[in-house]
Amino acid sequence: MVLTTSDKNNVKTVFAKVGGSAEQLGAETLDRDVMFTAYPQTKTYFPHFDVHHGSAQIKAHGKKVVAALIEACNHIDDIAGALSKLSDLHAQKLRVDPVNFKFLGHCFLVVVAIHHPTVLTPEVHASLDKFLCAVGNVLTAKYR
Ligand code: HEM
Repeated sequence: MVLTTSDKNNVKTVFAKVGGSAEQLGAETLDRDVMFTAYPQTKTYFPHFDVHHGSAQIKAHGKKVVAALIEACNHIDDIAGALSKLSDLHAQKLRVDPVNFKFLGHCFLVVVAIHHPTVLTPEVHASLDKFLCAVGNVLTAKYR
């Protein structure tokens, strides 16, 4: 997944805008209104979580997920290096089926679109989609 210079700038614009509301966006991405409802099979990876609407665990976890996306954005030329430990975790320990990364990426795009419709022009949408695919590829690169 090759990100062009304009893709990188577009992604940085998004995170400059959404960074301050990371916890809210992350929680909504996972929350029952989005990923856990649209793709209920994703809940199977969280049997130890309270997945009800407004759950403190989902809020805390959503914040971590968005923080990792911000980290990837801050190291957009070396996403694999920036997310190396997370890649070990997801591929080797959690063994999350790669298809789920597409679901999470899609849900994040939807939440950004809901909260920041003016930021998500068609070009920015395409760039953010490429970036989320790149992150998903990194997090599923170490399966064996
Ligand atoms: C844990 C990020 C996709 C399942 C984590 C953590 C982060 C993270 C930062 C916490 C690691 C730690 O505490 O050291 C991401 C990012 C993703 C992604 C950036 C894609 C953009 C997924 C998907 C699933 C998933 C698609 C499954 C549907 C989990 C689980 C944990 C976890 C089960 C452990 C939760 C716990 O017990 O606290 N992820 N993740 N992740 N992730 Fe992901």
